[in-house]
Amino acid sequence: MTALISTQDLSVSYRGHGAEVRALRGVTFRAEAGEVVGIVGESGCGKSTLASAIMTLLPPNAKVTGRLDYRGENVLALSNEQRRALRGRKIAMIFQDPMTAFHPAMTIGRQLVEFQMQMPGSRAEKEERAEAMLAKVGIADPALNMRRYVHELSGGMRQRAAIAAALLMTPDVLLADEPTTALDVTMEAQIIHLLRELRREHQGTIIIITHHLGVIGELCDRVYVMYAGEVVEEGAVDAVYHDARHPYTRALIACDPATAEQGKGPLPTIPGRLPDPSEPIAGCGFASRCSLASERCRVTPPPAVTVATGHVVRCYEVTP
Ligand SMILES: Nc1ncnc2c1ncn2[C@@H]1O[C@H](COP(=O)(O)OP(=O)(O)O)[C@@H](O)[C@H]1O
Ligand SMILES: [Mg+2]
Repeated sequence: MTALISTQDLSVSYRGHGAEVRALRGVTFRAEAGEVVGIVGESGCGKSTLASAIMTLLPPNAKVTGRLDYRGENVLALSNEQRRALRGRKIAMIFQDPMTAFHPAMTIGRQLVEFQMQMPGSRAEKEERAEAMLAKVGIADPALNMRRYVHELSGGMRQRAAIAAALLMTPDVLLADEPTTALDVTMEAQIIHLLRELRREHQGTIIIITHHLGVIGELCDRVYVMYAGEVVEEGAVDAVYHDARHPYTRALIACDPATAEQGKGPLPTIPGRLPDPSEPIAGCGFASRCSLASERCRVTPPPAVTVATGHVVRCYEVTP
């Protein structure tokens, strides 16, 4: 089966004034039609870079190597114009900050109509579609809210409106980068509920990026765990949560409030921090924080070990 989106050994570096930052280091990823795929990892590990690469929205100082395919076609070989056509129509993104999805000085309704620029239909039909979409994402009185500006909406309403905007494109791939991070716990629960409902109807792929394990557990079929620009563990959500093998995944789970609350005492954190992304990494990126690390972990990158169907871990300490 051809994946809707796939990457093969995808690397991204950012060039700046100082040293080059290696944000992605050889990521191989795939998402099939109908799947909800999660990408999890702490801040700075390259999640948004992967999202921007998939959206072909990397900044000009980014250098990309490897492959990125949409339905088996190499996206990196497309012209800027072809990429623009792909973006939005086929792949739509929901950003962490929904304020960025809307222009501050234009009504929500007008923007929801303009987002449908490339779609068939009259203006009245597009207005009707926009209003129906607002209702569908749980915005009460959509006709009134069409006439409002983004600053007049609450955080949760804004994120709903941003989700409506993305859905109006009828994308094959819906990419959500930290869609609930800016929200309080109640709003977060509501947006998760909405995304769960959408996943039942959405025929395409949903990719959810978050540093929050709970969000992945509630929404996703499969998960990729990233650390320092690499995928360290991947598999079905149940397998990865109940049989986590990589020391980093285990540490993430141990530090998750939902897991840790069952025990007593303060929330544990993973000691140490991400390696400097401008320094080369010889072996395993997690070695400096890993209690199991031995000399070879610091010298040679660990192999990818398949522990069960689709469950792959990059660690010397793991046996099939
Ligand atoms: N436009 C950019 N220019 C230079 N460095 C960047 C840029 N965007 C991100 N980075 C760096 O790339 C690394 C990965 O960042 P990012 O992809 O945003 O991670 P995450 O989304 O997991 O927090 C970080 O070290 C970050 O500082
Ligand atoms: Mg990010």
